[in-house]
Amino acid sequence: MGAVGKDIPHDSAVTHVTGESVFLDDVAPLSGELLAGIVPSPFAHGRLKRLDISKALQVPGVVSILTHADVPGHNRFGPAVKDEDLLVIEEAVFLGQPLAVIGATSQEALEAARKAVIVEMEELPPIFGIDEAAAANSFIGAPRYIRRGDVDAALASSHRIVEGDVEIGGQEHFYLESNISIVVPGEQGQMTVHSSTQHPSEVQMMVAEVLGVPFNHVVCICKRMGGGFGGKETQAAQPAMMAALIARRTGRPVRFVYSKDDDMRYTGKRHPFKAWYKLGLDAQNRITALDARLYSNGGCSTDLSFAVLERAMLHSDNAYFLPAVRIEGRVCRTNLPSNTAFRGFGGPQGVAMIEAALQDAAVALGVDPLDLRQRNAYSDADARNVTHYGQVIRNNVLPELFSTLRAESDYDARRAEITAFNDASPTHLKGLAVSPVKFGISFTRRTMNQANALVNVYQDGSVLVSTGATEMGQGVYTRIRQVVADELGIPLDQVLTAPTSTDKNNNTSPTAASAGTDLNGAAALDACRKIRERMSVVAAGMLGRPEEGLTAEPARITFDAGLVFDTRAPQRSLSFVDVCCQAYEQRVSLGERGFYATPGVDFNRDTGKGSPFLYYTNGIACSEVLIDRFTGEMSVSRVDLIMDVGKPLNPGIDRGQVVGGFIQGMGWCTTEELVYGPKGQLLSYSPTTYKIPNISDVPPVFNVRFLDNPNSDVSLHRSKAVGEPPLLLGLSAWLAVKDALRYASRGGAVPKLRLPATGEAILLALESLPEPAPAVALG
Ligand code: MTE
Ligand code: MOS
Repeated sequence: MGAVGKDIPHDSAVTHVTGESVFLDDVAPLSGELLAGIVPSPFAHGRLKRLDISKALQVPGVVSILTHADVPGHNRFGPAVKDEDLLVIEEAVFLGQPLAVIGATSQEALEAARKAVIVEMEELPPIFGIDEAAAANSFIGAPRYIRRGDVDAALASSHRIVEGDVEIGGQEHFYLESNISIVVPGEQGQMTVHSSTQHPSEVQMMVAEVLGVPFNHVVCICKRMGGGFGGKETQAAQPAMMAALIARRTGRPVRFVYSKDDDMRYTGKRHPFKAWYKLGLDAQNRITALDARLYSNGGCSTDLSFAVLERAMLHSDNAYFLPAVRIEGRVCRTNLPSNTAFRGFGGPQGVAMIEAALQDAAVALGVDPLDLRQRNAYSDADARNVTHYGQVIRNNVLPELFSTLRAESDYDARRAEITAFNDASPTHLKGLAVSPVKFGISFTRRTMNQANALVNVYQDGSVLVSTGATEMGQGVYTRIRQVVADELGIPLDQVLTAPTSTDKNNNTSPTAASAGTDLNGAAALDACRKIRERMSVVAAGMLGRPEEGLTAEPARITFDAGLVFDTRAPQRSLSFVDVCCQAYEQRVSLGERGFYATPGVDFNRDTGKGSPFLYYTNGIACSEVLIDRFTGEMSVSRVDLIMDVGKPLNPGIDRGQVVGGFIQGMGWCTTEELVYGPKGQLLSYSPTTYKIPNISDVPPVFNVRFLDNPNSDVSLHRSKAVGEPPLLLGLSAWLAVKDALRYASRGGAVPKLRLPATGEAILLALESLPEPAPAVALG
């Protein structure tokens, strides 16, 4: 009776509901604790002329105010390229960039001090948008390319060419817990940093660098996050660094927490993209070539922009075979907080581009969009299973997903119904669309595909496992417990996952790229195997009684259901606890470090070629939308979704990831809009103005199931990563709106639709259409 493959509840399920779960800001104030906060730049782009903190220092309750001059180590930081100033030296590059950090005994004192700081700045011309940045040649780094074959020749000999562009919006992470850190200073420059972070090792390193101390002086701990969604992969570091600066100066514990509004205003988001595409098709409606440009809005610094751009370029094929390809990618430098990782990590933006192109192509060719998609899906026939970067797709389930969903969603009958409905209804429009996903699993930077684990077995047979994986609600702690329990053959409740910390696991990768369980689960498994090997020797010694003619072989010792036995004589078994006690007695180690490095993955950035992914997670969704022709208001009325996650490690939790991911993607595609004022101030900075889906937006018919696919033989227990891929299926809702517009245009030009397709965007698109001639002559 193993735990893997079972619907084990999330290990915080009950305590989240009862309120017992501790998030960082629930920690009671420590003795002498200070609150830290920033003095934000009033301009998105400006030159600092004067910063006078003398009056602010007089405010009762203010203990310390630090500027860049007070930073003992590096003020410049960044995960890949160190190109952002933590505290402004001279030039502020986004609205809200910290000019100084204040440490005070109360929130009131913090606010008063913030007002008492005298700031004089010269406003410089800012850049906010992609078009604006491109016109001003404001880019970060060099362009990137992925190329295959002779695109110009392939386009020249194409039967049809479809050309267009699409504006793809950003997205606020909207984790419920804001970025936060509590820093406790120790002896001799040592620091304990509690952080709500997906990447404890990076917070550790960045805090050490800003303080100018060796990495071993800083321990970063993360018990859990109230959501991360990529927003806490790199950007948890700033609060930690600022709290650490005040802690270092004052010797007191320091808490830095953003209010929800400030977190939305001052931290990075999903990268907005603009994409231009030219898609060539032959007379059989097969794609001949894709020529595309993908420009992202990187914000003020590099952060993860190139990795995000790279994943967008690598996912520009989505599920389709592209014989000839040229993709140019660029990161625009703008005066916004640096944009960052967000569930899908550029994948959704690349997929939005090719899906928009295919939707337009279906209109141009006068064919059903699903027929066109199905025809162009990767298949094993005729070597149409090699991606534009050269990776061969193994165990390709895409054709099966297409045909299964087409049947299960009753697509063809509903297509006919919707056509009839749209012909008849003067008030409403319906749209229907299918979109697939093929999401590459592994970090595209090879080095990051490693993990280590520490497994401690205690004398009572209970087990504590710690890895670099961080828990943000996705269930990685629970899955790792399941893997460890099965590997040691003990009941699940004997295993606990310890809070993630850098003193137990060093040089860890972020919990990202959906690979948290794959990497850390495999490392934990490695540790368990080594412990089992040693315990097997002990057990064989305990079971073998040569004087009675009973033998036992370590190689035959099995661990199952809390028992330890020789497979040849299972009736004579020992309890796991007894073997633990005996091992301790004999001075045999019951603790172990495990390690895992993903085999084989490699990608060459310069040539744009390689096999960056261990495997692909696949899925497909069909969305139907209903639109009010007079207001543009839209609702998603039905969704059918099939997901290939191999053999799910925990079907219940995986299902939660699929449903939640789809809804989050649907929000990105339909209602979540980042609106900025002329000064670069985010106007939609709170739940009242930024519309994420709520319970009433969940499609009333929402059929979700897993494809039964045990074929993935390269991964942990034949499971597949699930965290990000379902988000990309939210695009089917956007495509369904595009489909509805196709009907509204009655054979004329279909108006452009930006992403997100908000009610306003839909209304504007409808209003741009010429008045239809009345169907029935009056009088
Ligand atoms: N699910 C919840 N509940 N909360 C989150 O913050 N983050 C997503 C996804 N699912 C997230 C989530 C993102 S961006 C990633 S990369 C993965 O979880 C990370 O976890 P994993 O690697 O363990 O799947
Ligand atoms: Mo997820 S965007 O890889 O943290």
